[in-house]
Amino acid sequence: MSAPVPARLLLGAGPSPVPERVLRALATPTIGHLDPAFVTLMDETAQMLREVMGTANRATLPLSCTGSGGMDAMVANLVDPGDRVVCGVHGLFGERMADALSRQGAEVVRVEAEWGRAIETERLVRPLASAAAALFVVHGETSTGVCQPLEGLAEACRAHDALLLVDCVTSLGGQLLALDQDGVDAAFSGTQKCLNCPPGLAPFTVGERALAKLARRDRPGRSWYFDLNLLLGYWSSGDGARAYHHTAPINMLFGLREALAIVLEEGLPARWERHRRAHRALLAALRELGCERLAPEGEQLHPLLAVRPPEGVGEAAVRTALRERHGIEISPGAGRLAGAVWRIGVMGVGAEREPQEQLVRALAQELGRPAEDPLAALAEGYATASPPV
Ligand SMILES: Cc1ncc(COP(=O)(O)O)c(C=O)c1O
Repeated sequence: MSAPVPARLLLGAGPSPVPERVLRALATPTIGHLDPAFVTLMDETAQMLREVMGTANRATLPLSCTGSGGMDAMVANLVDPGDRVVCGVHGLFGERMADALSRQGAEVVRVEAEWGRAIETERLVRPLASAAAALFVVHGETSTGVCQPLEGLAEACRAHDALLLVDCVTSLGGQLLALDQDGVDAAFSGTQKCLNCPPGLAPFTVGERALAKLARRDRPGRSWYFDLNLLLGYWSSGDGARAYHHTAPINMLFGLREALAIVLEEGLPARWERHRRAHRALLAALRELGCERLAPEGEQLHPLLAVRPPEGVGEAAVRTALRERHGIEISPGAGRLAGAVWRIGVMGVGAEREPQEQLVRALAQELGRPAEDPLAALAEGYATASPPV
């Protein structure tokens, strides 16, 4: 007897809700990973990923792993033992990268900010002058709900011959981002946030400057699975020949292609704007319920709203009640913010009025507060026009 899987409205830090269209695509009967029809689907998917990531990089592919695997792949291919790497740390995922970099034998130069704040550009670029090989930042810090601005980083990296490396796991498809325009040399993401696909693939892209560094290596890197040259032998559309590297998670790729089609049908500017509006509307409702956002205005990550619960409220008890009585998932604080915040996802189909109304109603009930004012604030947030992104 297997335990039933309950229905959940996923409004936490990820995974996000998966639309019917994607679920149906995932259930497409499996074909072989070298079937010509599958190879065509791979090419289509890589091209759609380029569009969503805002890049023309030929080395753009979904890695067969979650976002953390994308981070390991970035480190394995683009960081050599002994490299000095400047690493922005203002939350759990910057910490995680600092750890991955030091395991690779890099000399990690940490540039930190308080959890809940962005890091000043000037502080990030200053250490590049002392022979840094790369600068890494988390664009969307899911542990704090902060968006790290990318402006000014690429110029400084180029001036010092360093690579600009970015984690865009939570921002991709939900917050203004165009990797080529931002001068990003390599980036990784995940499927379970604003792309509304289940977890299991890591969109990954590497530009020419970073590929040139990889080509200068005199021996292959230590990771076989994440060897980008081997991976491109399977993914590259060059002469059409595909070398088996690993058995691709075929059905996940069916799902990702559909999820990317949904993003592109909406169009990126419209989608970014929808996330911004949904964030603002939900924040207005949550303020009516006594919550306060951790990130100051101007530093917020639209797809992830981290809020301090009202004074004196048992945050874990309310989260449990939301899940058990209303079928709604929101996330607790992570790392040093454990117990201090709720993290609410505003991701893809979760960035809509209807699921947010469900959350606001349920939260008001669990907090013992009337729902009228918060619902009115939510409605007003959706009614107010905002300037174009
Ligand atoms: C910003 C960020 N980076 C990396 C990761 C790791 O991704 P995964 O959990 O898919 O391995 C996450 C996951 O939440 C994330 O939010």
